[in-house]
Amino acid sequence: MKLITLNFSLLLIIGIFFSVADSTCRRGCDLALASYYVWLGSDLTFISNVTQTPIATILSYNPQIPNQDSVLADSRINVPFPCDCLAGGEFLGHVFTYAVNSGDTYEHVAQTSYANLTTVELLQRFNRYPAYNVPDRGAVLNVTVRCSCGDRDVDRRYGLFVTYPLRVGETLESVAAANNLSVDVVRAFNPTANFSAGSGLLYIPGRDQNGNYPPLNTRYHVSVLYFYKNTSKFCGAIAGISIAGVAGVFIVAACVYVGFLRKKNEGKIQLLPTVSDDQSQRAGTSFKGPDSSGTRDGTSPGIAGITVDKSVEFSYEELANATDDFSIANKIGEGGFGAVYYAELRGEKAAIKKMDMQATKEFLAELKVLTHVHHLNLVRLIGYCVEGSLFLVYEFVENGNISQHLRGTDREPLPWATRVQIALDSARGLEYIHEHTVPVYIHRDIKSANILIDKNFHAKVADFGLAKLTEVGSNSMPTGRLVGTFGYMPPEYAQYGDVSPKVDVYAFGVVIYELISAKEAIVKAGGSAADSRGLVAMFEEVLNRPNSSEELPKLIDPRLGDNYPLDSVQKMAQLAKACTHENPQLRPSMRSIVVALMTLSSTTEDWDVGSFYGNQGLLNLMSGR
Ligand SMILES: Nc1ncnc2c1ncn2[C@@H]1O[C@H](COP(=O)(O)OP(=O)(O)OP(=O)(O)O)[C@@H](O)[C@H]1O
Ligand SMILES: *[C@@H]1O[C@H](CO)[C@@H](O)[C@H](O)[C@H]1NC(C)=O
Ligand SMILES: *[C@@H]1O[C@H](CO)[C@@H](O)[C@H](O)[C@H]1NC(C)=O
Ligand SMILES: *[C@@H]1O[C@H](CO)[C@@H](O)[C@H](O)[C@H]1NC(C)=O
Ligand SMILES: *[C@@H]1O[C@H](CO)[C@@H](O)[C@H](O)[C@H]1NC(C)=O
Ligand SMILES: *[C@@H]1O[C@H](CO)[C@@H](O)[C@H](O)[C@H]1NC(C)=O
Ligand SMILES: [Mg+2]
Repeated sequence: MKLITLNFSLLLIIGIFFSVADSTCRRGCDLALASYYVWLGSDLTFISNVTQTPIATILSYNPQIPNQDSVLADSRINVPFPCDCLAGGEFLGHVFTYAVNSGDTYEHVAQTSYANLTTVELLQRFNRYPAYNVPDRGAVLNVTVRCSCGDRDVDRRYGLFVTYPLRVGETLESVAAANNLSVDVVRAFNPTANFSAGSGLLYIPGRDQNGNYPPLNTRYHVSVLYFYKNTSKFCGAIAGISIAGVAGVFIVAACVYVGFLRKKNEGKIQLLPTVSDDQSQRAGTSFKGPDSSGTRDGTSPGIAGITVDKSVEFSYEELANATDDFSIANKIGEGGFGAVYYAELRGEKAAIKKMDMQATKEFLAELKVLTHVHHLNLVRLIGYCVEGSLFLVYEFVENGNISQHLRGTDREPLPWATRVQIALDSARGLEYIHEHTVPVYIHRDIKSANILIDKNFHAKVADFGLAKLTEVGSNSMPTGRLVGTFGYMPPEYAQYGDVSPKVDVYAFGVVIYELISAKEAIVKAGGSAADSRGLVAMFEEVLNRPNSSEELPKLIDPRLGDNYPLDSVQKMAQLAKACTHENPQLRPSMRSIVVALMTLSSTTEDWDVGSFYGNQGLLNLMSGR
């Protein structure tokens, strides 16, 4: 391992390894564009109808069209659509629906109604009607249009792609020029295309609603988990990337802060527990020894010295025994990287996360560090196993995640006080990793599925320290996770990849909005991705209105009924608003958030607005520090 001693931000990629990336997909992406060639007789109403996309949405991607009545025949317009991973991972595409008109044939539907965006072969494959017997009206066809989400190996500058049916007379040069792209770029993304065939599909980089070409990593993140000493001094980073192929690819990079490494080489590392507020008393900052027997060091708040030599490695056999051979009956969840199983291990309840990837040496070193980070509000990593797959063994948290509690129909609605408590607990967990571990961490994947609830309805932050890694294979993109994670990403991260603790603060703010509304981070409206709205925008719109206190109840989880103190909800909403401030520097630190939430939870009973907004008031706390 390489050692680097720089004071300021540095990022060092140490280990990389790949598994097969083939042409299959595991995930799609939220947006692709279809280049529809407007033939004489077609218009926006028709195109909107066959693509199930509102005219206004289409227009927003076509600034060259001044209004909907001035669409010229023999021009092209881009229609946005979601790009999904179809046919069990076989290819990327989207299935539109088409109401058959009398006289329609597959050929007419492909070549005219869909302007060659689909083919007769695809229509035959995805519809049960034989080609000679397409019903006359009334029937609905599945129309599959292929798409691309980009290719990290070709060019990361482009992350949005147009499915472009070539027409007679077009050439590589004319297509490139018409789209203001270089010939090389167009060729690179279409290595097998015959540009003089006058037919066939191309995938060419497309522009978003602002007229920009979104780069790959603004929309699909390589997540990077930085170890940093404080907000301005980074001491290293661990980065991982998973190419969402069937086998998944994992690239892990690690840089270990030199001070930490030295200590480790001496066989000891130091973790500095919280001592400043009542959290440390409550959390006890309990540090367990590295053996998973559960012995406590019995540390009082102060400094705990921990040896890292004894490993917390489990054998595959032990894990298989504990999970009944990873039986379906023991499965408790599935994430982007594999399944989670319930296990009884050495007399303790555990959750085993089976990830289809291998761990690098550096990542293993990291895992050892993570097994030493203990806090009541962090799901504890007990150990791991690297035989075959990578297995992570966590303490079992009995009561599921908060997404399940908020949106599952089989759960009792969480009372308001519990929601405030959950927010406070998770804030404490985050504050701990932001400020009190050595090295300190940024979680980078805070979301409701990663906040678990124990039997006493206290919350614990899960998956801390695990860089969530998504990367693009030639034909493959993240799906489910992408949308989920998307709603939690702050603008500076989405646009420039800036990583700071404020990334977690933003995501935490989104979680608070979820606790208030029980809505998902991205609220789907209608069928198309373009109609989805971020929860942040929804709340902001209401909170910015002059009569927001009258409007806010419309966003409150209906399952709460009238059982909530409106002022408390309002304060939570204001806190979430501060957390999701566009400017990361204006977002509060987790420490301020903990203090604000402590005040909020202790004063929920007899609320004293005056003192709350006093010199130590929420607004001061929220203005950062
Ligand atoms: N330690 C645990 N105890 C109990 N349940 C757990 C534990 N860890 C995970 N789970 C359950 O398993 C589910 C899947 O976890 P997993 O972390 O694989 O996916 P995720 O949280 O949905 O997404 P991500 O991969 O981004 O973290 C979780 O949502 C949670 O409900
Ligand atoms: C498209 O038009 C058909 C009839 O031509 C109609 O039945 C259908 O509802 C329309 N679909 C949409 C999305 O407007
Ligand atoms: C689709 O392709 C066919 C055959 O190449 C061509 O005749 C037809 O004009 C194309 N349709 C459109 C809308 O470009
Ligand atoms: C369209 O696809 C759906 C889902 O795969 C299928 O149930 C349906 O039968 C298909 N429609 C036709 C006309 O084949
Ligand atoms: C086309 O690209 C060039 C640089 O590649 C840029 O300077 C120019 O502004 C672009 N034109 C349009 C219309 O985007
Ligand atoms: C490309 O298409 C043209 C026209 O159909 C054809 O003549 C030519 O042989 C094709 N080239 C290749 C390499 O397939
Ligand atoms: Mg998780």
